[in-house]
Amino acid sequence: MGVDNTNAQPATTGTPDAMPAGSSEPSAVPDQHFDVVIIGGGPGGYGAALYGASAGLNVALVEMDKIGGTCLHRGCIPAKELLETASIVRMVKHAGEFGVIVEPKTVDWSITLNRKQQVIDKLAEGVVMLLKNRKVTMFSGMGRLGQNNSVHIQGANDEQANISGDAVILAPGSVPRMIPGFEPDGTIVVTSDEFFHLSQIPRRAVVIGGGAIGCEFASTLADLGSSVTVLEALPKVLPGCDDDVTRVVLQSFKKKGITVRAGVSVTGHSPHAVGGTTVHFGEGETIETDVVVVSVGRVPYSQGLLGEGNVVKVSDRGHIQVDESCRTAEPSVWAIGDAIASPQLAHVAFAEGILAIKDILGESPPPIDYGKVPWAIYCHPEVAFAGHSEASAKDAGYEVVVSKHRFAGNSRAQILGETDGLVKVIAEKRVDGTAGTVLGVHMVGPWVTEQLSGGYFAVNWEATVDEVAALLQPHPSLSELFGESMLALTGRSLHG
Ligand code: NAI
Repeated sequence: MGVDNTNAQPATTGTPDAMPAGSSEPSAVPDQHFDVVIIGGGPGGYGAALYGASAGLNVALVEMDKIGGTCLHRGCIPAKELLETASIVRMVKHAGEFGVIVEPKTVDWSITLNRKQQVIDKLAEGVVMLLKNRKVTMFSGMGRLGQNNSVHIQGANDEQANISGDAVILAPGSVPRMIPGFEPDGTIVVTSDEFFHLSQIPRRAVVIGGGAIGCEFASTLADLGSSVTVLEALPKVLPGCDDDVTRVVLQSFKKKGITVRAGVSVTGHSPHAVGGTTVHFGEGETIETDVVVVSVGRVPYSQGLLGEGNVVKVSDRGHIQVDESCRTAEPSVWAIGDAIASPQLAHVAFAEGILAIKDILGESPPPIDYGKVPWAIYCHPEVAFAGHSEASAKDAGYEVVVSKHRFAGNSRAQILGETDGLVKVIAEKRVDGTAGTVLGVHMVGPWVTEQLSGGYFAVNWEATVDEVAALLQPHPSLSELFGESMLALTGRSLHG
């Protein structure tokens, strides 16, 4: 029942009578009781385990696949790793502008995939080592919550174990949402589960869904040389993003040759005998492609999780129902991560894991303000934001003052040759018309996912424009644009 993590150390144990590391003899395992039992070893679950163990709790972590979950093995990490290959391709393409002559420009996809796997394996190994060092007991198998905080674990080869906890945290995660007629086959139709194992860079790709995942895949493929079309059902891609930000992304995508068709529905596809397929969409339109990437959202995964004798409730949409402290209807059972109705982001899952552990410890933590969490989309150009967009602030009844500054005027951006993008600050309008509290910071451009932290702090600290404008940014730096945007909102400015 050892945890299956490529190149990772097998599960370790925190109690002398627990199952030996990597043991295949579960019958030797006596029933064990822990302070906390966590089902699901993704960022939510392993984060809660690490945080709980660091607070002195005796923690068990049950995982049926690999510790690290979707984020590490088939989500955030591989997606960003391939985006980095795309970024190197772009850099090489533009190297001549810097006087660096690099020829020939080819991508060896097998090396790319190997590097991606090495990064994943190293990180996975690191997480398992951390859990081991903190004496978290790991169980490999499918956990099912029973009554009185009991958890039954069904491993491979009929191995079974029964454990229990003073508290149980459910962190089972999510799976890609499917659309009828586009069932993934791993070669022509893929979801994010299969995308990272494509055997070659497709010449043509259709991406269904223009959300975060769709835009990241479209951007990666276009930079790697694919001809890409995005088909989005809603009137615009990147739902939730500020309109000015989306406009920049669309302009940049156009420069890359990505075709974005918004407001169209797909109706099916007709695979060809020789490979590739014809996708049918809109009012009788078709498009030929080698690969279809389906990225139309993710649905909570709670199959087999809930056994008899507990009152944990699941909504019609499949989310485990929780209160603002992530407590389920069952006493002493919490749920966190993609399986609950909160933003499906790894860092939100980490925060919910910490929240649940603090609540278990009786520390009465404040709830997470989901409207102010940081968002980061790693397509090129990158997108990052926290708090209200201009439209959502107005919808919420605020009178706003807005400042927008473009990277085109920023010295570091010019040095990098990455001038597409802007920083937009949305502040509450005071009665005298001046800018007050920062309501939202929205960015698009080079490395904005790394630049957002200042904006995130401003929004969450409910700082005023004057307070933030008084703080310095290094020169020359990309983050100066954030400082300039704040300064301009005081009514005076330097370059802005
Ligand atoms: P999403 O919900 O963000 O976007 C899915 C898009 O597909 C929506 O725009 C939707 O209108 C569209 N769509 C749905 N059905 C469609 C259809 N039949 N035809 C055409 N378009 C259709 O979901 P996505 O991008 O799959 O991401 C899943 C989750 O993972 C999201 O919560 C996302 O925020 C999160 N995520 C975040 C990342 C980040 O922040 N960097 C990266 C990857 C995922």
